[in-house]
Amino acid sequence: MESFLIKGGVPLHGAVTISGSKNAALPIMAATLLTDEPCVIRRVPDLSDTRFMVKILESLGATAQLEGGTLTIHARKIKGYADYELVRKMRGSICIAGPMLARLHRARVSLPGGCVIGARPINLHLKGFEALGVKIAIAGGYVEASVKKLIGNSVFLGGRAGPTVLGTANVMMAASLAEGITIIESAACEPEVVDLANFLNAMGANIAGAGSPTITITGVPRLHGAEHEVIPDRIEAATFLIAAGATNGEVTLKGARADHLRAVIDKLNEAGVTVERKGADLVARRKARLKPADITTLPYAGFPTDVQAQMMSLLALAPGISIITERIFESRFMHVSELARLGAEIEIEGPSAIVKGGRPLSGAPVMASDLRASAALVIAGLAARGATQVNRIYHLDRGYERMDAKLHQLGARIERVEGT
Ligand code: EPZ
Repeated sequence: MESFLIKGGVPLHGAVTISGSKNAALPIMAATLLTDEPCVIRRVPDLSDTRFMVKILESLGATAQLEGGTLTIHARKIKGYADYELVRKMRGSICIAGPMLARLHRARVSLPGGCVIGARPINLHLKGFEALGVKIAIAGGYVEASVKKLIGNSVFLGGRAGPTVLGTANVMMAASLAEGITIIESAACEPEVVDLANFLNAMGANIAGAGSPTITITGVPRLHGAEHEVIPDRIEAATFLIAAGATNGEVTLKGARADHLRAVIDKLNEAGVTVERKGADLVARRKARLKPADITTLPYAGFPTDVQAQMMSLLALAPGISIITERIFESRFMHVSELARLGAEIEIEGPSAIVKGGRPLSGAPVMASDLRASAALVIAGLAARGATQVNRIYHLDRGYERMDAKLHQLGARIERVEGT
């Protein structure tokens, strides 16, 4: 298994281009199942997750080519069954259920199972499908779903932690070919949901209100092929902004969308890292000494849970007390004990982590547990004195395109090695 070996203490300098968004690309790739015509998706990041989604689509009968960030998919004929071995490896694949139901009026998809960051049930997805008239049964670890005809309806999709991103995506896709009007209340407002709605509308769907808590879908009889360019990855962008601040460097981001990063930029500012627009680029650098800041993760446009871990690495360097409260996933503090191995002082109290920042970090071998936790360990390793080995970086490769090459380009001393 591969690891990153990082020699820390080097301020990052230079420019980096932000890749397409993983969390926008995955549901958009699933949406191509809604038509029997070819689709072309551009700026698809080359990640193990997107390559995996290609495998899933091929297992359903689609043909797919991913070359240089451009994906051509043709789901001429598809089957309505996705097995456990595929779905368990990537939770995001649950968003094939909506398109299958819309196209075939049936779907047999494995339940995704648990995840290190939380239980992550799909009850809201199923609630949405049932509102459209779908009969659902859970048997042998599979969701068995069938419907004579999808009928538009109103449904409230808010749950314990607020809206659901992929739940909103799934119901939106199913409703796009339903008869009549569907209104999703308490819909997720994430930019990835908007990007999916834009792609569906390019396919001939009739969706209004994406990006707001109320989405209205007027069903159409069929959808056609379309071309689309995926939005830039706001989580990758946030990760590089934070790395610039943590290493006291100056980094220019090319291709990032500042309007998708407002909550992150606001908190970085509070913590002593400025992010300025320079033409179409964003430039991050430290103002002066880092300062503590309190963070609470919330649905969009609040502070994203996918940036919580990376921000914790930065605040571990800021003298003073920062309180980080995770409101979206119930066990998303796996990185805390690994950051402690680098010398960070962090205590967990219920949904909050109390960060006593300011103590210099020193390199050590650490273990990645999930995608964003691994990014946090890389940032801490870049800021630490001495060498850090981040093990199990397969987690990172799921969501960051060529992270080591991009960091190297910014002057980081990082290499991919055979690890434990
Ligand atoms: C998406 O996951 C992202 N994944 C996650 O990013 C991200 O953390 C999450 O949204 C929140 O922003 C992709 O887009 C592929 P949710 P999703 O349904 O849609 C609860 C990353 O690092 N819930 O919005 O699966 C759930 O347990 C990943 O790139 C229910 O209770 O997340 C959670 O507490 C990690 N019932 C909350 O809602 C449901 O039916 C939000 O989950 C669905 C969700």
